[in-house]
Amino acid sequence: MAISLSHFLLAKSLLLSLVQAATVTYDFDIGWVYANPDGQAIRPVIGINGQWPIPTISVTKGDRLIVNVQNSLGNESTSLHFHGLYMNGTNHMDGAIGVTQCGIAPGSSFTYNFTVDQPGTYWYHSHAKGQYPDGLRGPLIVHDPEDPHKDLYDEELVLTFSDWYHDLMNPLLAFFMSVANPSGAEPVPNSALVNETQNLTISITPGRTYLVRMINIGAFAAHYIWFEDHTMQIVEVDGSYTEPTDADMIYMTAAQRYSVLITAKNNTDANFAFVGAMDQDLFDVVPDGLNSNVTGWLVYDDSLEKHPPKDVNAFEPFDDFSLVPWDKEELYDKVDRTIRLDLKMDNLDDGANYAFFNDVTYVRPKVPTLYTVLSTGPNATNPTIYGSNTNQFLLEPNEVVEIILNNDDPGKHPFHLHGHTFQVISRSDDEAGFYDPSSSSSFPSTPMKRDTVLVRPNGNAVMRFRADNPGVWFFHCHIEWHVVSGLVATIIESPLSIQSQLANKIPSDHYDTCLILNSPTAGNAAGNTQDLLDLTGEFRSPGELPAGFTARGIVALVFSCVAAFLGLGVISWYGMMPVKAKTG
Ligand code: C2O
Repeated sequence: MAISLSHFLLAKSLLLSLVQAATVTYDFDIGWVYANPDGQAIRPVIGINGQWPIPTISVTKGDRLIVNVQNSLGNESTSLHFHGLYMNGTNHMDGAIGVTQCGIAPGSSFTYNFTVDQPGTYWYHSHAKGQYPDGLRGPLIVHDPEDPHKDLYDEELVLTFSDWYHDLMNPLLAFFMSVANPSGAEPVPNSALVNETQNLTISITPGRTYLVRMINIGAFAAHYIWFEDHTMQIVEVDGSYTEPTDADMIYMTAAQRYSVLITAKNNTDANFAFVGAMDQDLFDVVPDGLNSNVTGWLVYDDSLEKHPPKDVNAFEPFDDFSLVPWDKEELYDKVDRTIRLDLKMDNLDDGANYAFFNDVTYVRPKVPTLYTVLSTGPNATNPTIYGSNTNQFLLEPNEVVEIILNNDDPGKHPFHLHGHTFQVISRSDDEAGFYDPSSSSSFPSTPMKRDTVLVRPNGNAVMRFRADNPGVWFFHCHIEWHVVSGLVATIIESPLSIQSQLANKIPSDHYDTCLILNSPTAGNAAGNTQDLLDLTGEFRSPGELPAGFTARGIVALVFSCVAAFLGLGVISWYGMMPVKAKTG
């Protein structure tokens, strides 16, 4: 009797797991299409299967997700990164070019295949340099049969917020990273979008409660977001459930997500605007006539007017630092390893403006870092082999890691770590300077968890996580301009465990595209398989400016040239200043 009962239980649980874990497959043909989402400019955008906006990926926790990608762009390599997913045991599916794969070459195909074991609101985007703001960015929702808040809502909505440019990223990037832009001013967006459009209307049923999953899929701008006369109750941020917490306005940086409950009114007497307002503090110069807001409406009665939003006196967003995670995970109070990252912006000897961690600007290695891990045996624990410009940090299995980020720059930066959520244990106000461990003794006992955190102007933030997920994980500012200017570090977590997980497991399509692009797949950062300490030929950043030649000097020179010769000044400066890129 007892035996047959346990048999029955075993069979039932097997059956349940079989029923629950589905395989969800998407076939994505990535190619250029035309779109005009703000009604002001038609332009090429990167679509999927001839469509843009691109589809929402939707799975249930526990599912296997397979995405078959065909790159039909013709002129650019591409990749897909599934932002916020841990990729536990499948680091090679993380989609970051130069880190876990080569670009998917034009004309070739590539399959992402992994299980999704975490619930919540995510997104997917190209992780080819500077590419996703051209349109290759969409929601990824992981439904959860055990969502602790599921009895609190009737329906779900997804709202993406973003900035939008009328120009393609390639010409914008060429200007951004040039001597003509020595101060590193980021191109200012031309408009803001919600669900890749404007003036979105959402029809609302009185009395219902909606779970609104909001995602900032933009390149640059954070958004202030509010719904007129409706309170938001935050229940999830970046895939971590929270204690339900009320907010009237939130601040959502590039790449962050907030799920909020919004309960509809019980009558249909009016419609209500909601607004995403880009944070103009990020913009060096706000162009005349820029509408930095995007508006939508909660429509209770389509025959009633949709009033323009009321003015707000001040932006006073909810401070996410006070959020408490639903699982009440306690503060990691014993730190095994501290990584200190001092951020600054400066010019190099090509005259362009770069971003630095600890005086090193990131340049991707010739060999994707994961492939270096997999091809170097016991030497994979030697940081040197990963190159001179990768800002590499090696972690031991299961240690508790603390990242101290000191922002020596007057800009706001949203920092994202692949493969993990982290506890945000300390975050300063503006202008607080560098973090001082001796003056910071008390931390929240159950700190908020996110995968993307705002670090304030000339301020600091401290994050902690446990190194329980072997892999090579990018840590970077999620302002796409700053990824290109080098605000990136490489976290190499438990390299020997990566080897035992993934040795001989990389599918051949991953290596094939490297072959097409002439990228080596083994050896150190320079592709040297014989002498791993010889980095000759590795990709390097330009050199430092000669002593006494300051960034200000370049700014002054360029501006006086511009003043003297108008646009010609810039061109003659190009001629005067040879571009010196170190190659070895
Ligand atoms: Cu949204 Cu490196 O990722």
